[in-house]
Formats: sequence, C-alpha cells, structure tokens
Amino acid sequence: MNQDELKALVGKKAVDWVFDNMTVGLGTGSTVKYMVEALAEKIKKEKLSITGVVTSEETAKQATSLGIPLKSVDEVDHIDLTIDGADEISSDFQGIKGGGAALLFEKIVASNSKKNIWIVDQSKLVDNLGKFPLPVEVIPYGSEKVFAKFDSKGLHPTFRLAADGTKLRTDSNNYIIDLHLEQIMNPLKLAEYLKAQVGVVEHGLFLNTVNTVIVGYPSGPKVLEA
Ligand code: A5P
Repeated sequence: MNQDELKALVGKKAVDWVFDNMTVGLGTGSTVKYMVEALAEKIKKEKLSITGVVTSEETAKQATSLGIPLKSVDEVDHIDLTIDGADEISSDFQGIKGGGAALLFEKIVASNSKKNIWIVDQSKLVDNLGKFPLPVEVIPYGSEKVFAKFDSKGLHPTFRLAADGTKLRTDSNNYIIDLHLEQIMNPLKLAEYLKAQVGVVEHGLFLNTVNTVIVGYPSGPKVLEA
C-alpha cells in the first residue's frame, strides 16, 4: 500500500466520528482531501445535516464543489469536531502542522472545537518533534527582523517560497518562516518564546490539541487514544 492509499484509508475512517446535525471543522491537506470526499458521500447517502467550517481556501473550494454547506468560525456557536492532518505527531500526541501553510486558520478552528481528531499515515509518527521544519506565520512588515532574531538564536530559519520563487503568502497574506530544528526538546518553551515575538502571528506547534489520532498502516487504520 502506498502513502496515498494509507491517507485515503484514514480519511474514510474518520467520518465514522461524524453524526447528524454536527458542525464539523474541516482541516487542510492531502489526507483531509480524502476525508472531505468521504464526508460528502456520507452526507448524501445518510441524508445528514452537517455544517462545515473550513481551515483554508483550498478546503473551501473542495467542500463547496462537493456541496457541503459551510459557515465561517464566527457564524457558528460551537464546532463539535474538527478532523485535520498533521506533519508530525510525537508519542505524547503533540504535533507540528502547517506544511500546507494553513496553520493559522487550522489553529483557530481547532481551538474552537469540542474535539479534534488527526488523521495521518504511519510516516508522521515520531519519537520527538522537529525533523519536520516548524512553520511560523509572520506579518510581512518587519519579517526580516524576526528572521534575523530567529537566525541569531540558532533556529535555522528559511522563508518559505512559492513556486515562482517569491515569498509564499498564506490565506491571510502573511509569510511563513520555517525553522529547521531537527529536534524540539521542549515544545512548550519554544511555543511560548515564539508567541512572545512581535510580528509572529502563529506557529505550527499544536500542543494538547488532540486525544484521538487515526493512523494508516498497510494492515488498516488504527485508532490511538491518549
Ligand atoms: C496544512 O497547513 C497542514 O497543517 C496539514 O494539515 C498537514 O501539513 C498535513 O498535510 P498532509 O495530509 O498533506 O500531509
């Protein structure tokens, strides 16, 4: 089974947690794409009334094309469940997200959800976070100063670039600085430091966010509970 098939497996499995009349946060990424597809099928088949709250323009486009009714996070009074992907998950269920540059809306939606589930293929499970570059979303004005500060602190920053070689813009028109850390020994301390820097909007450390992770293995999806 290739990585894509493992992603499809967990995407389909995740909709088992969706029931009638729920408001569901829809994450972003190649794994979530399969979940959104499966959700649209389930809504049609079981005639469910579901409201989706998206985390990116990319997911909004897909969900709209499949006929899933959407509302913004500000239009709903609660989100029952958010299903999202992740770039790395440590054994204590902490994560790095933002490989798809959608971390800001993902964190807003996740932090307003009663429950969060991450869906990943087996390659995303790690002992310690940090091999995957940690994305930090920054305001363009002053971003070179933030970059220099990260550099002098030994955080190995790089600006994320778009396909045309210019600095990538997020859905909120900000930049992403990726920190190449290899190992994050104290995620909580790093998260506090990053949040305290003027010009930083959000970072990709998602701490104490989920207690359910669905992992795709060739033998089938496995549900891990914290
Ligand atoms: C989007 O910004 C990310 O947080 C994604 O959720 C994460 O990168 C996982 O994406 P894939 O499912 O494409 O690996």
